[in-house]
Amino acid sequence: MPTENGSSITRDEIYRNMHNRMGQVQNMTQMGFSKRFDFPTEVIKEGDVNAVVPKLEAYAKEPWEYAPSKAPVFYNPVMELNRDLAVLALQAYQKIQEKRLVVCEPLAGCGIRGLRFAVEVKGVQKVVLNDINHEAAKLAQFNSEFNKLTKRVFVMNEDANFLLSRYAAPRKRFHFIDVDPFGTPVLYLDSALRALRDGGLLALTATDMAPLCGVHPNACIRKYGGRPLRTEYCHELAIRLLIGCLVMMAAKHEIGIEVVFSHSTDHYIRAYATAHYGARKADQSIQTMGYILHCFSCFHREILKGPVQHLKGECPECGAKLRAAGPLWTGNLSNIRFGSLMEKEITRRQRKHQRKISKLLFLINNEHTGPSTYYVIDKICDKLNLPVPSTTSVLSGLRERGSKATLTHFNSRGIRTDAPASVLTHLLFSLAK
Ligand SMILES: C[S@@+](CC[C@H](N)C(=O)[O-])C[C@H]1O[C@@H](n2cnc3c(N)ncnc32)[C@H](O)[C@@H]1O
Ligand SMILES: [Zn+2]
Repeated sequence: MPTENGSSITRDEIYRNMHNRMGQVQNMTQMGFSKRFDFPTEVIKEGDVNAVVPKLEAYAKEPWEYAPSKAPVFYNPVMELNRDLAVLALQAYQKIQEKRLVVCEPLAGCGIRGLRFAVEVKGVQKVVLNDINHEAAKLAQFNSEFNKLTKRVFVMNEDANFLLSRYAAPRKRFHFIDVDPFGTPVLYLDSALRALRDGGLLALTATDMAPLCGVHPNACIRKYGGRPLRTEYCHELAIRLLIGCLVMMAAKHEIGIEVVFSHSTDHYIRAYATAHYGARKADQSIQTMGYILHCFSCFHREILKGPVQHLKGECPECGAKLRAAGPLWTGNLSNIRFGSLMEKEITRRQRKHQRKISKLLFLINNEHTGPSTYYVIDKICDKLNLPVPSTTSVLSGLRERGSKATLTHFNSRGIRTDAPASVLTHLLFSLAK
């Protein structure tokens, strides 16, 4: 078996005679395949990959129990959409780069994500999978063999930061690194940036929404270096805080950041950004840092661009105290060319979440030119004691008044508009009449 270095999982370590038994999914189950692992397993198909994963129903006795974190190896079927989008993003990136790509997933669990990159993305030359959990690395190696990918997929079993540091030398670096951890990805930013080529793509998942959305503000300040706010658009702030943290970390290495895609789905956020070497590029990225000021009394917001700011105290509309989120990223949250390529890619694939993904990409590509922050109609109506109008009537009302207005993927009742809060509240009063 080709190996990357001495620390990879050897074929002998996984079940020696497994090879002969690979074949149809159904056959494997009939052969009592799951008995070959020390824990209950099953064979699933996700995208174009078949994989052996822990049998989750064996780990959650009660409906409220979270089975993926109880299993000996991590696999979360709910994150399939996240992985689908990662495949589309990597294909979009490959089409723009027109290169053969070397890819790394340093926190791989059972390996499903990285295996999907190898199988579903044209132009992927090599994938390095890694997990600190020995059982996970063993299962990922088995899944690589199961899908006949061992010539292109290499599995490691070490700490992610250690692995990434070993790939930090100029000719060893990756074109794409997908950091998909438990909780925050910030612990891996420094080593991921060092292991990424000039122009390389970095994907980050964050699931620690309580700090990022302002439930635990001190934890957010500690981890991300910025203050969150518990506003109705806190998920957008969360992405901006994560990207802000990435920008400041990249700047230390004289790397500038361009955000090409991001989304907020269910219990997590995700950001995709390319890294560009050069002190000037890093300076430009820093200039896109800033603050978002929010008035909890009248919904007024202000964006302050620039990393160092004198923060105003009072809302110019109602005089209430303004609250600040940041420092955070105030720039684009996606790139239209990148998003459109992803949209094209999904039409060419048959996926379980096809409609959901198409809708998400459509919304993201539409809201991309809009201003930072959005309004949630229900929230304003609730505060003003007004009946809640349809989203369509608010959209057309704003457009009739000369404002730009689009829906947002962040919230089905959200509206991204350049209209000030006062115009929107007047409109809601008139719609109520
Ligand atoms: C959320 S799971 C990964 C899921 C996977 N990316 C997927 O799409 O299915 C996080 C993984 O990180 C691994 N892990 C935790 N700390 C690590 C570390 N310091 N280095 C490498 N892997 C680590 C865990 O064992 C776990 O499998
Ligand atoms: Zn105000």
